[in-house]
Amino acid sequence: MIVRRRIKVFVVAGARPNFVKVAPIMRELEKSAALKPVLVHTGQHYDAEMSRLFFDQLAIPAPDVDLGVGSASHAVQTAHIMTAFEREMLARKPGLVVVVGDVNSTLACTLVAAKLLVPVAHVEAGLRSFDRTMPEEINRVVTDSLASFHFVTEPSGRENLIREGIRGESIHFVGNVMIDTLAQNLKRVRSEKVRHPLEGMGMDYAVVTLHRPTNVDDRETFAGIIGALEEISRNIPVFLPAHPRTEKNARRFGLMKRFSLWRGSASASHRVFMLEPLGYLPFLAMMRGARMVLTDSGGIQEETTFLGIPCITLRETTERPVTVEVGTNVVVGSERRKIVGAAMDVLDGRAKKGRVPELWDGKAARRIVEALEKAFAREGGVRRGDGGTGRRRGDAVP
Ligand code: UD1
Repeated sequence: MIVRRRIKVFVVAGARPNFVKVAPIMRELEKSAALKPVLVHTGQHYDAEMSRLFFDQLAIPAPDVDLGVGSASHAVQTAHIMTAFEREMLARKPGLVVVVGDVNSTLACTLVAAKLLVPVAHVEAGLRSFDRTMPEEINRVVTDSLASFHFVTEPSGRENLIREGIRGESIHFVGNVMIDTLAQNLKRVRSEKVRHPLEGMGMDYAVVTLHRPTNVDDRETFAGIIGALEEISRNIPVFLPAHPRTEKNARRFGLMKRFSLWRGSASASHRVFMLEPLGYLPFLAMMRGARMVLTDSGGIQEETTFLGIPCITLRETTERPVTVEVGTNVVVGSERRKIVGAAMDVLDGRAKKGRVPELWDGKAARRIVEALEKAFAREGGVRRGDGGTGRRRGDAVP
């Protein structure tokens, strides 16, 4: 009997949205007879509410490797991740690196792997906002140009990659791992009756998430958005679980007085409430009960589409057009008049009705692992460092 050794697969997670995406991938890889996962946490997000809570609630195994890099400027953060990740790659010699999403950790680890000629699988490939002022867009474009496997969540992903010269064979339309996690945990939220801060208040409310540099790093823009929320809050209380960047900037710009702190009653004179960042399950429970969600996050546009909840996106563009074409999302930018107009449409019963996009069925991670197993089973089926273009640079592994 020939006993094959499992191929070591580094799975990279760095920031909050990554944790949600790696959870189902880790679970499926654990079951694989051919592939052996090694979870690498870069430490880009390190606060308990931004990191540990997610590991606990999503039952993600403790990281095998923790690079502990923390926050810094883009260049310094990326460089720190690269230096620490290269050391681990050389020591442990994985045969494949799986990266998810579009954060600095995604880019940094892809660069290291590609230079060591180890193939990279990019989960959530091909999304494009066509706005290079977003750091995430730069991360997406570079990651996709170097990856050997491109797993896409929606048809636009394939179209964008083909336009950029990526080989069709490297592109796999598999669905959405973030939705795998959502579908699985929705059952838990229902059956375990997970509570959120507004539980049992018996009221309609709107949920807001805000953290994009374009919205919160500039005082005038941030204040304008708060103005819109104040206007909306005359009709419906508004709750903002704040990302650390958002709270820090609210303090720095002297905007904290425009928020109330939640003390269990929505009768405060100011009904825009700031909350602590929430863990995955309470946030899901809160989002599920919301009348509408206003957000500048990427993933939340997808989660609301799956849940059928009206989503108002506070950005000029979306890299997830399926949430607009098929789902409940409207993209309005950060202008006060447009934000308030979209919220009034929802309150007046004119919210968009959406459908769940194709293959968002909770089985994306399974499809990803099957595709990887198949590629590794084929002799020479994996081209290392060819960027999905078919150009072969050699077969050496470190
Ligand atoms: C990162 C991602 C963004 C993602 C977001 C989700 C990049 C370029 N951006 O943005 O795509 O949508 O995560 O949350 O990778 N901070 C803490 N505690 C933490 C983490 C961060 O206090 O655990 C503070 C730091 O002071 C830091 C700031 O938040 O300066 C921003 O963190 P950073 O990881 O640089 O980017 P995010 O804005 O979180």
